[in-house]
Amino acid sequence: MKKSLRKLETKCTRNGSFLSDILSLEINIENIKLRNPFILASGILDVTPSLFFRVASSGAGAIVTKTVTLEERKGFDNPVITDAPCGLINSMGLPNPGIKYFVNKYVKSIIDKIDIPIILSIGPSSVKDVYEMSNIVLDSGLKWIEINASCPHVKGHGLTVLGDESMLGEIIRVTKKKLSNFLIFVKISAHITNLAKIAETIFSSGADGIVAINTLRAIAIDIWSKKPILGGIFGGLSGPAIKPVALRCVYELYQYFPEKVIIGVGGISSWRDAIEFFLAGASAIQIGSVIAFKDLNIFKELNDGVIKYLNKEGYDSINEIIGLAHRF
Ligand code: DHB
Repeated sequence: MKKSLRKLETKCTRNGSFLSDILSLEINIENIKLRNPFILASGILDVTPSLFFRVASSGAGAIVTKTVTLEERKGFDNPVITDAPCGLINSMGLPNPGIKYFVNKYVKSIIDKIDIPIILSIGPSSVKDVYEMSNIVLDSGLKWIEINASCPHVKGHGLTVLGDESMLGEIIRVTKKKLSNFLIFVKISAHITNLAKIAETIFSSGADGIVAINTLRAIAIDIWSKKPILGGIFGGLSGPAIKPVALRCVYELYQYFPEKVIIGVGGISSWRDAIEFFLAGASAIQIGSVIAFKDLNIFKELNDGVIKYLNKEGYDSINEIIGLAHRF
């Protein structure tokens, strides 16, 4: 019953046809085709092959894996997550089995069986790290890497890399040289005041795109024990609380680099939020914390909502609205 109602709803028609038949959300990011621009963000339901398949069947356009490091990491002590007004603060501490195990055990077994792109998130702490990681990825079947230069609470990774522009540039150059047929994206943070300069370094070093933004460095304190709540002390704030900051970063990046690919992420919880990011200049968006609140149905909700919006506003494709908020 619900399904047929949904079909009737979506048939708000252009000449009697289902909107989803005539309005495709398919996009191309450089040479890679995505059935829609809604990508699962790193860190959510993206650790094992069975989760990858669940996310794919929920309608996502691509999946970013959990960030992996060169060596295995145990992560921080519990608790690793707490809630905040309008969001979550997480402090996992980059737990992962190491890139070799992850790629060999998880990625290689599914890469040819899954019908959406898998993007491997890597968290190097040095140029040497990324050199060795690239060797492992080379023949994995993967085609797209996201360099995590923005994890806000693990020393030596993430923000440390973003804060050292010459290392950041070298990490990107080495990755692009070793993985010349791959798309190389860099996930950045809003914890910088020189966004244009860092973006310039990222693009001039050979990156194909920027993902903005990671979680914001945050803390929560228990008033009765009078101590920080999270095992790692600091965590990353995600969810609706950071959406305006993420949107601002995407808007500014598009102002400086309108020809480049920008992927927006940060608190996107509805098709309306998604439209805001496209208007600001995002070519695609990533979905994270909202899955904890709404579950994986969010991908269908986004697909339906964006298609209806495009139809209502008289557009034929998502490309027609990217960056429109800059025309005034
Ligand atoms: C983790 C947190 C992040 O924000 C990130 O980008 C990568 C990893 C973590 O805690 O594991």
